[in-house]
Amino acid sequence: MLNIEISSWLLFCLLPLFLLFLISFIFTFRSSKESSSEQLPRSYPVIGSYLSVLANKDRLIQWTSDIVRSSPNLTFTLRRPLGYCQVYTANPATVQHILKSHFSVYEKGDIFRATLSDFLGDGIFNADGDKWKFQRQMSSHEFNTKSLRKYVETVVDTELSQRLIPILAAAAADKTVLDFQDILQRFAFDNICKIAFGYDPQYLLPSLPVAEFAVAFENATRISSDRFSSPFPLIWKIKRALNIGAEKKLSSAVRHVREFAQEIVKEKKQELKENSELESGDLLSRFLSSGHSDETFVTDIVISFILAGRDTTSAALTWFFWLVYSHPEVEKGILREIREKSESPLYDEVKDMTYTHASLCETMRLYPPVPSDTKEAAKDDVLPDGTVVRKGTRVTYHPYAMGRVEAEWGSDWGSFRPERWLERDAQSPGKWKFVAKDSYHYPVFQAGPRICLGKEFAFLQMQRVVAGVLRQFRVVPATQEGGAEPVFISYLTTKMKGGFPVRILERVIN
Ligand code: HEM
Ligand SMILES: *[C@@H]1O[C@H](CO)[C@@H](O)[C@H](O)[C@H]1NC(C)=O
Ligand SMILES: *[C@@H]1O[C@H](CO)[C@@H](O)[C@H](O)[C@H]1NC(C)=O
Repeated sequence: MLNIEISSWLLFCLLPLFLLFLISFIFTFRSSKESSSEQLPRSYPVIGSYLSVLANKDRLIQWTSDIVRSSPNLTFTLRRPLGYCQVYTANPATVQHILKSHFSVYEKGDIFRATLSDFLGDGIFNADGDKWKFQRQMSSHEFNTKSLRKYVETVVDTELSQRLIPILAAAAADKTVLDFQDILQRFAFDNICKIAFGYDPQYLLPSLPVAEFAVAFENATRISSDRFSSPFPLIWKIKRALNIGAEKKLSSAVRHVREFAQEIVKEKKQELKENSELESGDLLSRFLSSGHSDETFVTDIVISFILAGRDTTSAALTWFFWLVYSHPEVEKGILREIREKSESPLYDEVKDMTYTHASLCETMRLYPPVPSDTKEAAKDDVLPDGTVVRKGTRVTYHPYAMGRVEAEWGSDWGSFRPERWLERDAQSPGKWKFVAKDSYHYPVFQAGPRICLGKEFAFLQMQRVVAGVLRQFRVVPATQEGGAEPVFISYLTTKMKGGFPVRILERVIN
């Protein structure tokens, strides 16, 4: 009797108390958003820290970055619903551990693969084990040929001189405002489709057309990546089974992308059959003529390449042009370099653009195109700092946070300063020498066996764009005369929220 009374009394009192606690927690959390040093988020039974995640859903990268930077050993564990854990790290020793020395333990994993498999199939981006290894070997072989480099140069140059520059010249003459982020994405999309497929989607045209393939690809990427923010995968799986809501749109977008890609693969196969002498430079032709004829597989590979190359370089360039506008002394340095090199032939010009290269690295330190990247432990493990990792735990390395660690970059980590990547060349006075960071301290292109395959091409493309654009034009933000810092957001890759409206001015050569 007494017992029952006590327990109902307890329940009566404790339930409101618990609710009060929850509410006050949410409020303290709100106000603590302003403070610079983040505390480890509160965790509750069953839901873990889901409330904090929800409260920060539009700034997960910045929020987790603040926490990881103020955590001991630059590592913390986030409690996910239903007892799952996710470890975040900005510690180079741990990055080396997961990406290199214990590579076989830290895979893409089941969650990642299930989430993206409708879209990416077994493509390199979404594969582990032997399936990955095979594609990696084949791709890196095809990637490292001189003829592919030549082909990439031609593609980038054509897109630059026949599409980008004329559009900018027209905008300068008409004084129109352009969304430069959109323009750069279109540029990158045309480029990567030509390089991967030998197909020109004609996405960067003066009319800024809606290209169906590009839109379907964009939709498929966005909706697939939204699946990651669902609290339980079961939710999107049910929607998919019922073919409703976002999942219905996704399946239509994916069908579009795949049908389109398959059509291109078929045509290319036919072309190669009819003309075995054909010297097309694109990756698809290379894969097909090296004896891989399984259409689904080749399609998967090519879709992964488009995803990898599509929004990464455009994200880096968008932030680059904004940073360079707000740092006139850097712009001067780049211009000086462009003018010095403008006489030399293409490849050497790019190779020697040390200051521009440093400026791009510095941009991606602050705004990495892939701001965080997640692996899944295939078995129990212990990280170098002692953090215990159970099988199935996701471990996320965090380039965005790593570019902001004071111990790594000094107290001026917040300043955009390309010089931190340079030193005077002892051999030739007056010249700069580039000082690279190792990839565990700067994993912007990842590190270890799965390091980005397109890194060199990315720099080649970005440097060509920088030289081509800045030589002739000034890119001036159109909001509030330069205005406030744009808002950094991220799906799978980084974006500037709301785009990057700019005016283009012809540069007066002096
Ligand atoms: C600034 C530009 C770029 C950045 C910052 C970047 C960054 C990355 C990162 C972080 C990964 C690892 C992703 C993961 O495994 O979860 C990756 C993988 C990859 N990237 Fe890039 N990337 C860039 C441009 C490109 C371009 C232009 C291409 C293609 C031409 C490309 C091709 C690839 C491929 C094929 C992989 C998969 C490698 C593998 O799994 O073995 N990337 N990249
Ligand atoms: C892409 O998404 C937009 C907005 O949801 C939709 O209007 C459009 O029909 C979609 N297009 C394709 C090809 O998926
Ligand atoms: C982190 O570093 C401290 C020393 O700075 C150490 O005592 C601790 O065990 C480390 N590991 C974890 C998981 O906190």
